[in-house]
Amino acid sequence: MVNLRMACHVSAVALLAALSLTGQDAAKVARGKYLVEEVGKCQECHTPRLDSGEFDKTKWMKGAVLNVAPIKPVQGWHKTSPDITPEGRLWERWTAEGIKKYMTTGLNPKGRPADAPMPTYKLTAEDADAVVEYLKTLK
Ligand code: HEC
Repeated sequence: MVNLRMACHVSAVALLAALSLTGQDAAKVARGKYLVEEVGKCQECHTPRLDSGEFDKTKWMKGAVLNVAPIKPVQGWHKTSPDITPEGRLWERWTAEGIKKYMTTGLNPKGRPADAPMPTYKLTAEDADAVVEYLKTLK
């Protein structure tokens, strides 16, 4: 009887812990989505557009041909952006840690910055973590 009561107590505690963790994760993902979509505006360059000019939501952050070009030539200008979802080659090559580090330093795992027009972001570790947690939810 005592054992049963203890077992119930333990599982209730475990359940509560799991629930609060889920709440924390959800808040982190929501923060990451906000940083990506409303602050960094990553979709402007990393999501392709339909002929109507609207984003192709089925290819969210899957890499695109840019719809802008510099007026004067810019060295190293890229006409395309890579897939930044976990399905892209970048995650395989850099891992989530590499992407997090890149978002805090602006430097890739080889210590080099990206070519134009990729902006250099120097996010806090906490914000970079949130960005990566959000990107992880993209298929
Ligand atoms: C103004 C356009 C633009 C915006 C906005 C933008 N990117 Fe990029 N991004 C690019 C281009 C172009 C590249 C390719 C650069 C290269 O290969 O060196 C790139 C490359 C990257 C890379 C790989 C870097 C490398 O060295 O290969 C990552 C990771 C990335 N972007 C993430 C993001 C995230 C996350 C955001 C939003 C917080 C964002 N980008 C916003 C244009 C953009």
